[in-house]
Amino acid sequence: MIVTIDGPAGAGKSSIAKIAADRLGFEFLDTGALYRAMTLAAIRAQVDFSDTQEIIRFSSTVDIQWDGQRVLLKGEDVSAQIRTPPVTDAIRFVADLPDSRSRLSEIQRQVSTGRNMVTEGRDQGSEVFSDAECKIFLTASPEERARRRHQQLADMGRPVPLEEILRAQDRRDEEDRSREIGALRPADDASIIESDGMTTDDVLELILKIVRSKIAEQS
Ligand code: C5P
Repeated sequence: MIVTIDGPAGAGKSSIAKIAADRLGFEFLDTGALYRAMTLAAIRAQVDFSDTQEIIRFSSTVDIQWDGQRVLLKGEDVSAQIRTPPVTDAIRFVADLPDSRSRLSEIQRQVSTGRNMVTEGRDQGSEVFSDAECKIFLTASPEERARRRHQQLADMGRPVPLEEILRAQDRRDEEDRSREIGALRPADDASIIESDGMTTDDVLELILKIVRSKIAEQS
C-alpha cells in the first residue's frame, strides 16, 4: 500500500510522515531529499543553471539512491549537505524541468514497487502515485508554518527574524505552486488536513486514523 503525504514547505510533512511510517510498520520515502540531492550533484558538477539542456543532460546521468532513510549520491551519504541554503535556493532549476522530474519520479516508483510505503513531497498523490490507496494533503496557513519554523530555528540556537522566514517561504510556495508539471496541489481524492492549532500528535493521530480506515476498506 502507498500512502502519499503532500503539502507546502514547513507543514511538518517530513517528521510526521516518518513517524507515521514507523507506527504503521511501513517504509518512508522523502522525495524532497531526491530533488535536493540532484541539485547538490549539479552544483558540485558546476552545471550552468541557465542552460536547460545541460541540466537535462546532467540529470539523466546522476546516480541517486534512497536507502530507506538516507539519500546517497554515488554511494555517498549527502543527507546533511542537501539541507544547506545554496541547495534550497537552486532546487527550482531542477524541479521546474519535466525531464528531471520524470527521472526522479521513475526512481520514486522503483523504490516503492511492491512495498508498503509512506511517500512525502508535492506531487505524490496528484502525479507520481496517482493510483495510491491513501492520499493526504497536509497544510497550514503561511503564518503558522513560518511561526513553527521560527521556533524550530530558535530552539536550534539559530534565531532568524519571522519576517525573513515568511518572505522565503512565500517565494518557495509560489515556485512550488506555479510549476507546469509536478505543481504542489492536492489530488482530487486526497484527505486535506489544515493543521493550524493542531499539535504534531493531533496531526499524527488523524493521519493514522485515515490510513487505518483505508486499510480496513481494502481488506
Ligand atoms: O520537501 P523539501 O522542502 O525538502 O523539498 C525541496 C523542494 O523540492 C521543494 O520546494 C520542491 O521545489 C521540490 N520538490 C518537488 N517535488 C517533490 C518534492 C520536492 O518539486 N515531490
